[in-house]
Amino acid sequence: MKIGIIGSGNIGATSARLFVRAGHEVALSNSRGGEGLEELIAELRPKAHATTIEDAARFGEVVLVAIPFGKFRTLPAEGFKGKVVVDTGNYYPQRDGNFAELDNDETTSSELLATHLKGARLVKGFNTIWFEHLATQGDTKLPLEERRAIFIAGDDSQAKEVVARLIEEIGFAAVDTGFLHEGGRLQQPGTAVYNKELAAKEAADLLSAA
Ligand SMILES: NC(=O)c1ccc[n+]([C@@H]2O[C@H](COP(=O)([O-])OP(=O)(O)OC[C@H]3O[C@@H](n4cnc5c(N)ncnc54)[C@H](OP(=O)(O)O)[C@@H]3O)[C@@H](O)[C@H]2O)c1
Repeated sequence: MKIGIIGSGNIGATSARLFVRAGHEVALSNSRGGEGLEELIAELRPKAHATTIEDAARFGEVVLVAIPFGKFRTLPAEGFKGKVVVDTGNYYPQRDGNFAELDNDETTSSELLATHLKGARLVKGFNTIWFEHLATQGDTKLPLEERRAIFIAGDDSQAKEVVARLIEEIGFAAVDTGFLHEGGRLQQPGTAVYNKELAAKEAADLLSAA
């Protein structure tokens, strides 16, 4: 599968390595038209190349957005139309600046991104796992229920299936928290599952008890 990566820092670069290891092809981008990613590309060649945000979005059947949340309005929405988009972002006001509609809990960071990327098939995912755990805790040999959980939420069930399959291919288990508005809230910073090292079975039990 072709995967576009928007933001190639901790989460973007780690995901790219895992996707390439699983046999996928990635296009990596950052705020500088792909400049500065030479070492990473050398490591992942020939399954990876660096490019602009627009081209990475166009390239991907799946597009992983891994930029500081507060920058989401700089993304060119056009290229994301119809794409399965994975939103890895978390709202941290100290880093992102204050968004009144998030501070008063009217909406969520993922819904703001979905509204901005109109026409994208957005799935919130990969946002609860620290990148160093993402790099090291996947294990394709484990049965699904014993694997570390990666949470997903979204309104498009087919898009969630695509993302769940990718998660399984890199050695984790996808645990669905529901629709974007309600489910997305269950995986935000400060929730019971955020940055917790949970196996899929434990995660499902925890969510059903909530
Ligand atoms: N770190 C984690 O363990 C972790 C875990 C789960 C979720 N998250 C969330 O995932 C998101 C990314 O976090 P991170 O730790 O990976 O960040 P990071 O290491 O700081 O990397 C950010 C990347 O985004 C790029 N970027 C910044 N502004 C951009 C813009 N306007 N357009 C395109 N690219 C832009 C940066 O490019 P330049 O180098 O060119 O600036 C860089 O490649 C955040 O919302 C974070 O809260 C992080």
